[in-house]
Amino acid sequence: MKRRIGILTSGGDCPGLNACIRGVARASYSQFDTEIIGIQDGYAGLIAGDYKEMKQSDFSGILTLGGTILGTRRTPFRNMRVIGEDNVDKVKAMKANYKKMKLDCLVCLGGNGTHKTANLLSEEGLNVIGLPKTIDNDIWGTDVTFGFHTAVDIATEVIDRIHTTAASHGRCMVIEIMGNKAGWLTLYSGIAGGADIILLPEIPYDIDVVADAVQRRAEAGKAFSIIAVAEGAMTVEEAKMKKKERAAYRAEMGFNGIANRIANELEAKVGVEARAVVPGHVQRGGSPSAYDRMLSTVFGVHAAQLIANEEYGMAVGMDGRKVIHTPLSEVAGKTKFVPEDAQAVKAARAMGISLGD
Ligand code: F6P
Repeated sequence: MKRRIGILTSGGDCPGLNACIRGVARASYSQFDTEIIGIQDGYAGLIAGDYKEMKQSDFSGILTLGGTILGTRRTPFRNMRVIGEDNVDKVKAMKANYKKMKLDCLVCLGGNGTHKTANLLSEEGLNVIGLPKTIDNDIWGTDVTFGFHTAVDIATEVIDRIHTTAASHGRCMVIEIMGNKAGWLTLYSGIAGGADIILLPEIPYDIDVVADAVQRRAEAGKAFSIIAVAEGAMTVEEAKMKKKERAAYRAEMGFNGIANRIANELEAKVGVEARAVVPGHVQRGGSPSAYDRMLSTVFGVHAAQLIANEEYGMAVGMDGRKVIHTPLSEVAGKTKFVPEDAQAVKAARAMGISLGD
């Protein structure tokens, strides 16, 4: 049995992409006659026909490497069927290049957008497998995505380090954690880092409730407070607005990121000294944690198994401690938000952490 496998990484990068590529490659080489084509920069490379034949040695020494050896781009799903100024029919081009590469299947490592395009290509008749990466942990069909736990470790270390300087100065420190739609990373690192207040996109906050929590800590003799806020957090009023309306409202107020806004508002309301900290892309950089190396590897191995069985149109994921696969059509277009009754949300509340609501 011989298989020609195309691999691409698409969307924002995260630690574990290379470990996962290596997992697919090594498990394939060891099970069947394998040829791997590395597609450069995600779907952009598939559209442009930018790819190269990989050698087995290309997959050595990459387990611990952050980023992606294949490069990545954001190629928004919403534009996939839109013919732009370049006059390129992207779907047609991707199908033509798949054929030109003589692929038996295409393995797409990515987040929500990547899975939507993977599903589109599957519906167009290509043999596609999706692998779930993102620090946001918001992909449907899997309890956990690779990259998430490494980012939790990094964000937790940021909060730990902020703790000591916050305590020394008696300041209120507002740390902006990545996650525009889903607050998993903020919730987990907030709890792990001992944040006093955690604000998530899924639970709109009231700034007066946040101010009260800071005030109560001050009255209890705690001069400092740590707030972990997801970059996509919003107030109760903003949550009622349409996306465009909210953007206009924020532009009007000179919005400069959620952490800055909250720090300024707390200084005005409580009279504390506040600082905003934005670790940004540090949360996506560097080597994957041991957990993510393991997760990426088992996901990659599972993808190789699906290829061996010719089971395509699937998204790999984790259910409890079991690696599973779900039809791409069931995964695409859904976001796994933090549910209100998530165990971690309940635990945070039970610990006296304010969620701002
Ligand atoms: O999807 C991962 C993520 O890091 C989000 O948490 C964040 O909102 C976004 O990507 C940032 O995107 P970019 O890297 O394109 O600035």
